[in-house]
Amino acid sequence: MRRTGGTGATIPPRATATRERPILDFLKPRYIPMNRRRRIYEGKAKVLYEGPEPGTLIQHFKDDATAFNAKKHEVIDGKGVLNNRISEHIFSNLNDIGVPTHFIRRLNMREQLIREVEIIPLEVVVRNVAAGSLSTKLGLEEGTQLPRSIIEFYYKNDALNDPMVSEEHITAFGWATPQEIDDIMALAIRVNDFLSGLFLGAGIRLVDFKMECGRLWEGEMMRIVVADEISPDSCRLWDIKSKDKMDKDRFRRDMGGLIEAYTEVARRLGIMGENEKAGPAAGPRLVQ
Ligand SMILES: Nc1ncnc2c1ncn2[C@@H]1O[C@H](COP(=O)(O)OP(=O)(O)O)[C@@H](O)[C@H]1O
Ligand SMILES: [Mg+2]
Repeated sequence: MRRTGGTGATIPPRATATRERPILDFLKPRYIPMNRRRRIYEGKAKVLYEGPEPGTLIQHFKDDATAFNAKKHEVIDGKGVLNNRISEHIFSNLNDIGVPTHFIRRLNMREQLIREVEIIPLEVVVRNVAAGSLSTKLGLEEGTQLPRSIIEFYYKNDALNDPMVSEEHITAFGWATPQEIDDIMALAIRVNDFLSGLFLGAGIRLVDFKMECGRLWEGEMMRIVVADEISPDSCRLWDIKSKDKMDKDRFRRDMGGLIEAYTEVARRLGIMGENEKAGPAAGPRLVQ
């Protein structure tokens, strides 16, 4: 009897044991059950598994929500599914407009196929409106429009609480070269412009967001691409009319209604399936 992953249930052995397999059986595509895949990394919100081909990974979105460097933690049913869908929508649009990303395609409700990259250990934050730590540090009222978009870098290191760093630190410690910082900033501005427009069209203000970048090797060539995820977990999104928060601040600030807010973001971006849209608010339907 084989044991399955976490449930403790047992499943009977398959009818054809290894010895009885037909000779060319190895040519058939093989489905690798979740619990047999090689787990490369488990983070706070996602798990990375080895992908089907070299240079690929499977990014699995969990329902875990963390804040304040994981001091606050909760499991919120359905969050991973929504982030997978929203991030897929954003990354495939970025690919379409020529902003290079790690994203290949979505595989199922919780997983996507991505290219493995060498993650640059920086959280790149782009801000359009004052909020969060910027408001606290500089005494700016939340919601103040910034004179221009501001890019900030944080060193990705949980043990140190992701401290803010300057270009001087980044180059001195070799986390990225000056040329790479230029590329990262150019990408950050393109992503910010694209996302600002995308959300504006959905009646949502992009206050700020975080992105991660990685080095993608193609033979001898290397280029910087956008990696990780872009979702309401990593953006501040405010409803333009009501100013309601539609992002992870609902969790950080114990406001509740996180799933409802993420679902509304997905609905406004037009990425929910027809049956998920069903209901009185779904609008006119074709009568068959
Ligand atoms: N394309 C990629 N290749 C390799 N690593 C990646 C890629 N995209 C994201 N990652 C890394 O995978 C991890 C995703 O899991 P997450 O739960 O967000 O982790 P963390 O708790 O470290 O933020 C992150 O550490 C991120 O840097
Ligand atoms: Mg992360």
